[in-house]
Amino acid sequence: MKSIQPRSSPPKHVALLWRHPLPSPRLHSIRFLFSLPFSPSLSYKTRAPLLLIPCSEVQTRAELPCFLTNSFFFSSSASSSAAMSEVAPVVDAEYMAEIERARRDLRALIASKNCAPIMLRLAWHDAGTYDAKTKTGGPNGSIRFPQEYSHGANAGIKIAIDLLEPIKQKHPKITYADLYQLAGVVAVEVTGGPTIDFVAGRKDSSVCPEEGRLPDAKQGASHLRDVFYRMGLSDKDIVSLSGGHTLGRARPERSGFDGAWTKDPLKFDNSYFVELLKGETEGLLKLSTDKALVEDPEFRRYVEIYAKDEEAFFRDYAESHKKLSELGFKPPRSAFSCRSGNKQKSLLVQAAAGVAVAAAVVAWTYICEANKKIG
Ligand code: HEM
Repeated sequence: MKSIQPRSSPPKHVALLWRHPLPSPRLHSIRFLFSLPFSPSLSYKTRAPLLLIPCSEVQTRAELPCFLTNSFFFSSSASSSAAMSEVAPVVDAEYMAEIERARRDLRALIASKNCAPIMLRLAWHDAGTYDAKTKTGGPNGSIRFPQEYSHGANAGIKIAIDLLEPIKQKHPKITYADLYQLAGVVAVEVTGGPTIDFVAGRKDSSVCPEEGRLPDAKQGASHLRDVFYRMGLSDKDIVSLSGGHTLGRARPERSGFDGAWTKDPLKFDNSYFVELLKGETEGLLKLSTDKALVEDPEFRRYVEIYAKDEEAFFRDYAESHKKLSELGFKPPRSAFSCRSGNKQKSLLVQAAAGVAVAAAVVAWTYICEANKKIG
């Protein structure tokens, strides 16, 4: 156990934080409570209410509910210093209001600069480094560092990073990780693609993955599977996400390739798959990894469905894009989902439950003390 902020004067509250996941957080917390030499006596001697706060989201004092900021609190986390280097934002109503304001700014930026393709590529390249085994990489904003954006696969990505910096400065509360993924979601939406559920709360990381985690356009189906399976994604995800090439183009000075995949590279539709099935079309680009989608029978199944049925593509794309944007990200239980508008105030609800448990514990302690005195 680690004391985060000891105080010399009697505290207003004594907060005991415990960390998920645990088999039974409430039971664990009670056990934990009784294993402490000073609790709950500390609580009743100081006449300070004892609060039990589940703290899967709370990692620093600043993240505590405001009524607790003047409290003496203890954390049951042994690894809080490690956790504090990559702190999750508090996703409350204010954070979500900021997300909505940033969303409006992103729409305006993308419309004025016609930069939807590179915004989508930025979101994908930040997320696409994820390694499910080591739980490293992923949508964590680390691509903002030269160490990562200078990787060969990221040539040109700095343009998107720079375009987003004024929006970050205007909405400093929002993490880079959230901002980059929000930009990807908005890029798809404003070009006519599906609405993608966006859940906020990603942590920023300053740890850059090693070079070589993004796919190599000169390779084929087995390489695609190696890369996307490493992220924990499926064949269906590989094909639907490749449909992102409905937007944008390749530039010789960046990747060495030249040309767009579709005739209207600023419109998000299923034309990427239609063009794939047509074979070579003059003036349109097909990378080896694009061709692999029609050559591999398992991939081709999806290409045929998406070429025929745009609705099916949009449905699967929205699902796969959400997965990609949340690799390694466990949405905080207080997170608000933008599409559903579902405002989960779980931290407060759990805090209330904690207060009830604490009240019962304190009452029980008083009764024991009283019994002892009578005895
Ligand atoms: C499947 C493996 C993939 C490979 C090998 C690949 C490769 C490439 C290459 C070589 C470029 C050209 C970059 C340039 O010259 O500027 C490019 C551009 C692009 N990629 Fe991919 N990509 C893949 C998957 C994806 C995915 C999953 C998405 C999004 C969900 C995506 C979205 C884009 C977009 C939007 C562009 C155009 C960027 C622009 O116009 O500035 N790509 N990709």
